[in-house]
Amino acid sequence: CSTNELEGTTILVTAGGTQESIDPVRYIGNRSSGKMGYAIAEQAAHMGAKVILVSAPTSLPIPSGVDFISVDSAVSMQEAVEARYNDVNVVIMAAAVSDFRVLHKAEQKIKKMESMTIELVKNPDILQGLGSKKSHQILVGFAAETEHVIKYGQDKVAKKNLDMLVANDVSKSNAGFNVDTNEGYFLYPDKEPKEMPNMKKSDLARHILREVIDLVANKHS
Ligand code: C5P
Repeated sequence: CSTNELEGTTILVTAGGTQESIDPVRYIGNRSSGKMGYAIAEQAAHMGAKVILVSAPTSLPIPSGVDFISVDSAVSMQEAVEARYNDVNVVIMAAAVSDFRVLHKAEQKIKKMESMTIELVKNPDILQGLGSKKSHQILVGFAAETEHVIKYGQDKVAKKNLDMLVANDVSKSNAGFNVDTNEGYFLYPDKEPKEMPNMKKSDLARHILREVIDLVANKHS
């Protein structure tokens, strides 16, 4: 069912795992399915938001009612997000962004050989860049951790200047990558963590968006 709680709010959501080209047919990727980000985009549209979904490749159908922008690498995602940053109220970075990219992409398909070395260079941290130039926007990040979930998450809230972080323990089989359920903690710069029990990603998406509504309201009060 549709509601209008987010009417007048423009939300940019990133989703999927970025792909870093090695040559014209190969890439370095990750196991992100895009399910969490797509669930957020879909729910936000149901709640009346104007939604921009910046997506790395996934096998999911495009949710109806969203403005869909297809990207592949971290750098192309950064360009798409930064070009729209001034025009949005909220950014939710659910994408799994590759930390590295290939320094020299081959123009032609690399031929078989006994061994080879690929040199990688660091990608920009898109969210940290947004945090460093934040004005009216609310910034929400995600973190996949395998230990010290709250401590490592809180460090990311501070480092990336976030309003909220959804921190998941991906060592659990029913949370994180490629499953339909998720759980974890909502972390904030100035509030106690909130524990989220295991639930469907669509339900977690609604919880996240309720928090976003409060964060937007508090920013304006
Ligand atoms: O990888 P990390 O745990 O630092 O990711 C935390 C948040 O930062 C996520 O929301 C992710 O989308 C974002 N991120 C990013 N650019 C990167 C790495 C992560 O925007 N290069």
